Amino acid sequence: MAEEYSLYNPTVMDHFLNPRNMGDLEDADGIGEVGAAACGDIMKISLKIGNDGRISDARFKTFGCGSAIASSSMATELVKGKTIEEAMQLSNKNVVDALGGLPPVKIHCSVLAEEAIKAALDDYLKRHPEMAARVAAAKAQKQPNE
Ligand code: FES
Repeated sequence: MAEEYSLYNPTVMDHFLNPRNMGDLEDADGIGEVGAAACGDIMKISLKIGNDGRISDARFKTFGCGSAIASSSMATELVKGKTIEEAMQLSNKNVVDALGGLPPVKIHCSVLAEEAIKAALDDYLKRHPEMAARVAAAKAQKQPNE
């Protein structure tokens, strides 16, 4: 058992054993639910987004492995306070780095967190076309060649 645990660094263990932001947001502005084809695990992320386009709160519910739970916990921490544009840039690598690393066979668990955040942002933008237009315009201004 101790050997199994040694695969995971103390930050991963902390987010697994004491997950931050677990649960649902009753009045969520955007919800993303994704599943991992490889293992069948499921992750749901709920976001509260203000009129200023900033994420004021984030929650997760994950039916999955410890790495998925730690990744969702860290991802919700990372996106809180970020703008939609900033949160769109969140990659699974950012999550893994913030966790101080995951074993190679567990990297796909962090991909689930990236996808769930993006799905929740997409859901929000579908519900708020005016904000979607603002985000698209800001993106076009930053990357005129895309
Ligand atoms: S093993 Fe499925 S998400 Fe980690």
